[in-house]
Amino acid sequence: MVPVIAGCKHSFSALVLCAFFFAAASFHASAASKTEADEKAGAALFVDKGCTFCHGVSGVGTAKAPSLIDLRKDKAWPEAKIKIQILNGGQKMPPFADSLTDQEVSQLIAYLLAKHRPAPPAAALNPAAQ
Ligand code: HEC
Repeated sequence: MVPVIAGCKHSFSALVLCAFFFAAASFHASAASKTEADEKAGAALFVDKGCTFCHGVSGVGTAKAPSLIDLRKDKAWPEAKIKIQILNGGQKMPPFADSLTDQEVSQLIAYLLAKHRPAPPAAALNPAAQ
């Protein structure tokens, strides 16, 4: 009987610990989406993940896809909708749900909605130059 109780106790505390870490991790993710580091990481991802291929360097827009420059001021594009667009794609935009982690999506959004968008690192723009 005692070992069973001990086992229960053990798994219960493991569960509590897990729940704690999960809560801490998700809190961190949402809090972190506003940091400058995330905006910079998002700038690099925007290049690395090929967003620039359609949306142009810094998201200025091309014939393939609309400009994302004024997304921050666009009431039609709240953060939740931007997230859905990135995850699921659109009519001509491919879905990125399989190629981005939650954190990467947050970083991309942090970049797109940044007041002063950081420039992508030179290495991301021209890896051959490094
Ligand atoms: C193959 C081209 C293509 C790629 C690659 C692409 N997009 Fe798009 N994106 C589009 C098109 C086209 C639209 C317009 C709506 C539609 O047809 O899906 C769009 C729309 C959007 C929108 C909504 C804004 C608006 O005004 O419609 C966001 C936000 C966005 N893209 C972000 C991204 C991000 C972030 C990436 C990289 C992870 C990315 N896109 C990669 C083509 C692309």
